[in-house]
Amino acid sequence: ILPKFWQGKRLLVTAGPTYEDIDPVRFIGNKSSGKMGYAIAEVAADAGADVVLISGPVSLKASDKVQTVLVRSAQQMLEAVQQNYADCDVFISAAAVADYRVATPNLQKIKKTDDQDGMTLNLVKNPDIVKWVAEQVTKPYVVGFAAETERLEAYARDKLECKKLDMICANSVGDGKGFEQDDNALLLMTKTQHKNLTNAPKSRLAKSLLAFIAECLVEAKK
Ligand code: PMT
Repeated sequence: ILPKFWQGKRLLVTAGPTYEDIDPVRFIGNKSSGKMGYAIAEVAADAGADVVLISGPVSLKASDKVQTVLVRSAQQMLEAVQQNYADCDVFISAAAVADYRVATPNLQKIKKTDDQDGMTLNLVKNPDIVKWVAEQVTKPYVVGFAAETERLEAYARDKLECKKLDMICANSVGDGKGFEQDDNALLLMTKTQHKNLTNAPKSRLAKSLLAFIAECLVEAKK
């Protein structure tokens, strides 16, 4: 059972991938089903939180208890976050945002030609959404995720520090782990605390994560 802490709290969550268009029929995207972020949004809403979920393209549908904003690209996700973060208590960035986008997407479908064996895409860096929120003067408690294929704890700690987050949820991905699965395992880290959540359904992990955030915030207020 989640602590009463979440009743009436405002939570902003991002979920799913972002798609960066190459032309009207092709895109660059990340592997993400949205299951982790949607589970967090639903569990928080069930615990009485006022939840806004900003979702990239996924095949899931949130319940009516969750206010959902659908976006496609990282730029659109950033704008939706900017419109919704201000009165939030907690921001959880579970989305797999594409780090790069095509500099100038083609307006028409790029044609394959017989004389060209290769193709080069000119990519530019996308804005870092969770970092942007963490840089604001008045900001919510900021929780990021780290999806890693190696050196899980070290890379996640780097992200916690570089992006100036309050908490990071590290998960191993690849080899059938993390992305698109119903189960996951998370290592939660703040500057001073550490909690290992072993493999479990994403809804159970969402409950444990929300309970840990509540504990940290209550502790910080003492
Ligand atoms: O959706 P599922 O299939 O259930 O899979 C869940 C998940 C593996 C996608 C999820 O648990 C997860 O790890 N989400 C974050 C994936 C990711 O992009 O991690 P990252 O290590 O590349 O990014 C670090 C943090 O910065 C993340 O909080 C990310 O949301 C954020 N970020 C990254 C790039 C960017 N341009 N803007 C961001 O806000």
